[in-house]
Amino acid sequence: MRAIIGGSGLGKIRSLQSTRREVVRTPYGDPSCPLHFGHLGAHPVVFLARHGAGHRICPHEINYRANLWALKQAGVTEVVAVASVGGIDPALAPGALVVPDQIIDYTYGRAHTYFQGPDQPVTHVDFTHPYSDEVRQQLMAAAARAGKPIVAQGTYGATQGPRLETAAEIRRMARDGCTLVGMTGMPEAVLARELGLAYACLAVVVNPAAGVGSSAEMISMEAINAVMDQAMKDVVDLLIAL
Ligand code: HPA
Repeated sequence: MRAIIGGSGLGKIRSLQSTRREVVRTPYGDPSCPLHFGHLGAHPVVFLARHGAGHRICPHEINYRANLWALKQAGVTEVVAVASVGGIDPALAPGALVVPDQIIDYTYGRAHTYFQGPDQPVTHVDFTHPYSDEVRQQLMAAAARAGKPIVAQGTYGATQGPRLETAAEIRRMARDGCTLVGMTGMPEAVLARELGLAYACLAVVVNPAAGVGSSAEMISMEAINAVMDQAMKDVVDLLIAL
């Protein structure tokens, strides 16, 4: 079964034909919210709102381990993680949909592995290609079916938040090779890898990153909200095509 993790702007999917909600507990604590089971078109899916009901959980306070564990326990094998991001590459205008293929992790102090503690063997998962190529290809095929332009690669820089970045931080990230910036891509992606879940990100550019283009002076939340509504409609169309 496939899971959809919804981020900012996608706290629920109206087209989801709901069958049940399930409160799940895990050895790592509680997930962000109950799992929401249903169908999108003919396909069973489970939906999880990353920031919880009412968008109340900060990026660094999300219990990523509990979220992924709960999905695995529910029988999920594939995860599509929807994420709002800033565009570092000026070619990525607000509204652009991107399927990143790489990650650079700038987060700190987050519980980022299941392999720790006295009973756990030291385990180093391979993370050369952090996203599932199969799920990435499925996303791109779905975009083609839905008639939505999509950018087939990108490097997602994961920052700690909740504050936005400085212009100098974004210039550094650009030099590092990041084309997108978001706050929730890690450790979510690596925890999925540790659990053997096929995971890919559907990134939605909602603003130029700090210092880039129209964000030269500041990032306006009004501008972000204006982009978000239409962009999330595109995302849902793509998910239905998926
Ligand atoms: N920076 C970090 N995370 C984000 C941004 C941004 O500019 N936009 C949306 N999520």
